[in-house]
Amino acid sequence: MNVGVIGVGHVGLVTAGALAELGHRVMAVDLNRDKIELLRSGKIPFYEPDLDDLIAVQARTDRLFFDSDPRKAAQDAEVLFICVGRPTTATGDASLTAVEAVGRDVAHRAGAGVVIAEKSTVPPGTADRLRLTIAREEPGLAFTVVANPEFLREGNAVRDTLRPDRIVVGSDDARGFEVMRRLYKPLVDLGIPLIETDVRTAELSKLASNAFLAAKISFANSLARLAELTGADVVKIAEVMGADTRIGTSFLNAGLGFGGYCLPKDTQTLERIAQRAGYDFQLLRSVILVNEEAITAVASKVEEAIWNLEGKRISLLGLAFKAGTEDVRGAPALVLARRFIEEGASVIGHDPMAAAASRSMVPHLETSDDPYEAVTGAHCVVVCTDWPEYRRLDLDRLRERMAYPIVVDGRNVLDPDRAERAGLTYLPIGRPARHGEANQGD
Ligand code: UGA
Repeated sequence: MNVGVIGVGHVGLVTAGALAELGHRVMAVDLNRDKIELLRSGKIPFYEPDLDDLIAVQARTDRLFFDSDPRKAAQDAEVLFICVGRPTTATGDASLTAVEAVGRDVAHRAGAGVVIAEKSTVPPGTADRLRLTIAREEPGLAFTVVANPEFLREGNAVRDTLRPDRIVVGSDDARGFEVMRRLYKPLVDLGIPLIETDVRTAELSKLASNAFLAAKISFANSLARLAELTGADVVKIAEVMGADTRIGTSFLNAGLGFGGYCLPKDTQTLERIAQRAGYDFQLLRSVILVNEEAITAVASKVEEAIWNLEGKRISLLGLAFKAGTEDVRGAPALVLARRFIEEGASVIGHDPMAAAASRSMVPHLETSDDPYEAVTGAHCVVVCTDWPEYRRLDLDRLRERMAYPIVVDGRNVLDPDRAERAGLTYLPIGRPARHGEANQGD
């Protein structure tokens, strides 16, 4: 099938590559010419495992094309994906200006019978608005708008798109389902469920999924506070809970809370949608609040451990919002960095991928490429991202380089026994502290 993709951010580019991999002919466009030039030269504008291979193979097999002219995407497209950004306004509402702009543009360029598919995460009712916009702009055009939300995770995006848990198609007419079933036939043939709903249900289901994941994390973080007050271990509690298949093990890790571009934004958007619809979604307000408290709780642990921050040196291990990405949008580590710097500490961070991006976001933040160098002279080390390499750190070497042997483990990644044996004062989240035997007055 001929497919157009508008917007080659994380979702658009992965979608374009994956659809080409499934055998479709894909034209991906973005107004950003530099990005398009980069893609044409075989490079990708951000880090995502396996994406460069996918894009390279597809470009060679003549099924994936890039252009900065939106007309190229609309020409001959049976399905036209909208993958543009959907930021939030200052009030937390979804900002849909870019989505509307694409709708207006597409109206004049698309062919009869085109299916316009929303991939951007949008509030319920967006497809209705798009329909109206397109009909106003191009009264004679026959078209269908469907919602086809994307559930890919950064760092896992290629696998999530080529082997998703489910595909969701929301349509209000038979043609929308018929076209989208043909598009995804190769995946459906592999046994991947395609769930069909009306458009508003599909739109809402994406926001609901992200908000539910956020709720699981906040539940774990509330339990962490309670575990600390009652002497229990939240990691073990999560293991016990997760063993129940109805609950599941994932997204129960307590720590610095959920960051990134999607979970915080989508949770807030869903809460605003509910508010505007006249429903007080109290649960979501708590999810957001608990997530803010998760960062405060870690900051308090640092302050409690080393007293005044002025003149102290704090080392942050991990700056990206999660492991496996260079993305620092909504990264809890950067919230901590700003706070500590404001309070007079000097802050140095280490991250396998996100150091440069972090420096550009936080004035006065220093970074080092070497974790041992980053902890040298530190009065406190805070683990902020669950990079697997931190589990393998030589904790004796770490301690020898620190000014005070204090580690706050904001992601519960280190082994408490090893930390204690290395003589560290080890302060994890929601589990008992360990006090090794190093001289804390060093
Ligand atoms: C999220 C969703 O997981 C995807 O399904 C969705 O498609 C995507 O948003 C989107 O809307 O585009 P992503 O933003 O890549 O994906 O990040 P997640 O893997 O969900 O992690 C979000 C945050 O939660 C990270 O800061 C992570 O460290 C934190 N987290 C995750 C926890 O604090 N505890 C956990 O147990 C799991």
